[in-house]
Amino acid sequence: MSEARFKKIISHAKEYGFVFPSSEIYDGLSAVYDYGQNGVELKNNIKNYWWASMVQIHENIVGVDAAIFMHPTVWKASGHVDAFSDPMIDNRDSKKRYRADVLIEDYLAKIEGKIEKEVAKGHKRFGADFNEEQFRSTHPNVLRNKEKIDAVNQRMKNALDENNLADLKKLIEDLEIACPVSGSKSWTEVRQFNLMFETEMGSLAEEASAVYLRPETAQGIFVNFLNVQKTSRLKIPFGIAQIGKAFRNEIVARQFLFRMKEFEQMEMQYFVKPGTEMEWYDYWKEQRMNWHKQMGFSEKKYRLHDHLKLAHYANAACDIDFEFPIGFKELEGIHSRTNFDLASHEKFSGKKLQYFDSEENKSYVPYVVETSIGLDRTFLAVISESYCEEKLEDGSTRTVLKIPPFLTPVKAAVFPLVKKDGLPEKAKEIMDKLKFDFNCSYEEKDTIGKRYRRQDAIGTPFCITVDHQTLEDNTVTIRERDSMKQERIPTEKIAGILEEKVSLKKVLTC
Ligand code: GAP
Repeated sequence: MSEARFKKIISHAKEYGFVFPSSEIYDGLSAVYDYGQNGVELKNNIKNYWWASMVQIHENIVGVDAAIFMHPTVWKASGHVDAFSDPMIDNRDSKKRYRADVLIEDYLAKIEGKIEKEVAKGHKRFGADFNEEQFRSTHPNVLRNKEKIDAVNQRMKNALDENNLADLKKLIEDLEIACPVSGSKSWTEVRQFNLMFETEMGSLAEEASAVYLRPETAQGIFVNFLNVQKTSRLKIPFGIAQIGKAFRNEIVARQFLFRMKEFEQMEMQYFVKPGTEMEWYDYWKEQRMNWHKQMGFSEKKYRLHDHLKLAHYANAACDIDFEFPIGFKELEGIHSRTNFDLASHEKFSGKKLQYFDSEENKSYVPYVVETSIGLDRTFLAVISESYCEEKLEDGSTRTVLKIPPFLTPVKAAVFPLVKKDGLPEKAKEIMDKLKFDFNCSYEEKDTIGKRYRRQDAIGTPFCITVDHQTLEDNTVTIRERDSMKQERIPTEKIAGILEEKVSLKKVLTC
């Protein structure tokens, strides 16, 4: 866990036009953010990667774009009105409100940190001979801490399962957890708070009726299940995908894009024959993990984590956790949602939401396996993992975002060496040819060195410099971001090199 690194990433994201606090001139709005000129490009590229992998290359998965406002009964049927709440606890001295389970999870993360420190010490001491597996299963400090984690997890699970809020508070007291702001252990009772934002629809007060801002995109898929199935004639198993905004009245402090009040989800509901859902659950777990790994970050950064407490709709669920600078936390959820949602919408709407299986010659309510990933969390994972401060041979340092090339905001920057002698015109001519296939940027200010640094800071994989020799033999210098190697190539080769290195198709087909 690195608070200092997290702060650096947040300020880098702001300085280089990725993420700004919302309405900053009015001092911002808690847990709400705007994406800037580079942020929106990175975000769109992540969306395209997800959409291409889930919809475009699967013949049996289609997309929808449902409205954010939905009939209020949707949220009654889905269980959100009655059960979409978090157990919250207030600290009397700081007046700060926390999620009780998150306070306990943060406590456990610290013990987990102690285990990792012990393992790192072992690595240092025994070098190449170190047997990590054996060390983890025999070292007394590791075992003691592991036992403690298991015991606390079990107590928390029991309290959450039984909705025993008094026990949850007792656990916080027994563990002597203090408020991170005031350091005080003076806690209120734990209470459940609903996370949905409510507003009114209708122009006159007497006509107005309460509606919610959707807290997940999934319900827009469920209520359209029959519309899509009938108009697409898809046969089970098939999927419906959606990318869109979701809103939750989260109580958070200093978590940046990790936990926001307005965020975007990329969700896919896969409708399957009852009884086959576990097969598909395993299938999607593997597929989704592969999707993450294809971005090329260290595999150690990801881990699968089975849910201790299942949501009201699930018979199995797991998270793909990612090691953010604030520790290992949920990036994506994969849930076997049974037929809970469709069956419940049948009950509340009085409409049949069934599928006629011609092979079985019968109708049934399909079961659903869901994959649900936060777009903003994926964005945070990408920039956190890409952020590097490198010491160079000349003693200087450079900050570079080693974003996977197929996701970078800009694919190539084109520079004239100087602002005269026809070099800007030639550089623009090259840029004009490339810009229809690749997002490019043109820069003529400052030294080439400074221009390289600026492009490194936003992750641009290639910089192309036009100089006087270009006018003679039509060659340019191409410089690669990570190796900083420069090569002289004919201009007609630029597009091919970019295509080879930044293409999404390559990632999708490997
Ligand atoms: N339809 C299922 C569902 O919404 P979830 O685990 O509550 O499940 C799915 O949310 C994903 O949405 C999470 O794994 C996370 O990436 C993202 N997410 C949830 N709440 C978020 C928030 N407040 N800010 C940013 N991302 C969030």
